[in-house]
Amino acid sequence: MNVGILGSGEVAQALAKGFLGRGDRVMLGTREPSKLADWKSRSGDRASVGSFEEAAGLGEWIVFATLGTAALDVISQAGRENFAGKIVIDATNPLSFAGGAVSLAYSQPSNGERIAAAVPDARVVKAFNTVGNALMVHPEFHGPRGVMFIAGDDASAKKDVAALCEEWGWSVSDQGGIDASGYLEALCIVWVRHCAGVGAWNHAFTFVAAN
Ligand SMILES: NC(=O)c1ccc[n+]([C@@H]2O[C@H](COP(=O)([O-])OP(=O)(O)OC[C@H]3O[C@@H](n4cnc5c(N)ncnc54)[C@H](OP(=O)(O)O)[C@@H]3O)[C@@H](O)[C@H]2O)c1
Repeated sequence: MNVGILGSGEVAQALAKGFLGRGDRVMLGTREPSKLADWKSRSGDRASVGSFEEAAGLGEWIVFATLGTAALDVISQAGRENFAGKIVIDATNPLSFAGGAVSLAYSQPSNGERIAAAVPDARVVKAFNTVGNALMVHPEFHGPRGVMFIAGDDASAKKDVAALCEEWGWSVSDQGGIDASGYLEALCIVWVRHCAGVGAWNHAFTFVAAN
């Protein structure tokens, strides 16, 4: 399938590698395609680079991997019509680094809800926002699988995104509708604070059940 990834950073490139590894075609969308020349040349024939609009237009699935607080601007640049009917994975967090500490720039509504409201014909699924980019695809954990939290209003889209997460080594926790995005965005802060506290960024959430 064709995947349009909106973003050029670590998350965009980590997920692009995952999709390319499954045989998908991937276009990274950016305001500055020239800076991705090296990425394109080392990523093979199925990898390409374009504007946000070109990536959104090409993608049968679209992945949101931009600065969280820029998400609505990116939708304007990408063209709302390019999202209609498509699965849109929202991996963003609307982070603020004011005062040197990480926090959410806003929480009500959450970024997932803002994105879903801006492209109401799209099938938005929040996913991949509660774990570092280095772990997103085929992580190797000691012990049980990590949990990938997802949320969204379209059951069929969630089923497809959950299958992708499982393929990439995750156990999936479906948190319900897109109104749960705020909980997942807050969980990102918990993840950052935990990893910063222990000085290791190789952790993910999981659940254990008592007998
Ligand atoms: N880093 C992680 O491990 C991690 C893990 C989970 C979730 N996340 C979330 O995933 C998202 C991507 O994170 P990241 O670390 O890969 O990259 P990032 O540094 O948060 O964002 C980089 C991307 O945002 C775009 N961007 C920045 N300012 C913009 C603006 N004013 N208008 C339009 N686009 C703008 C950039 O576009 P250009 O290419 O045009 O410069 C670039 O593609 C973030 O929301 C982050 O919170 C990150």
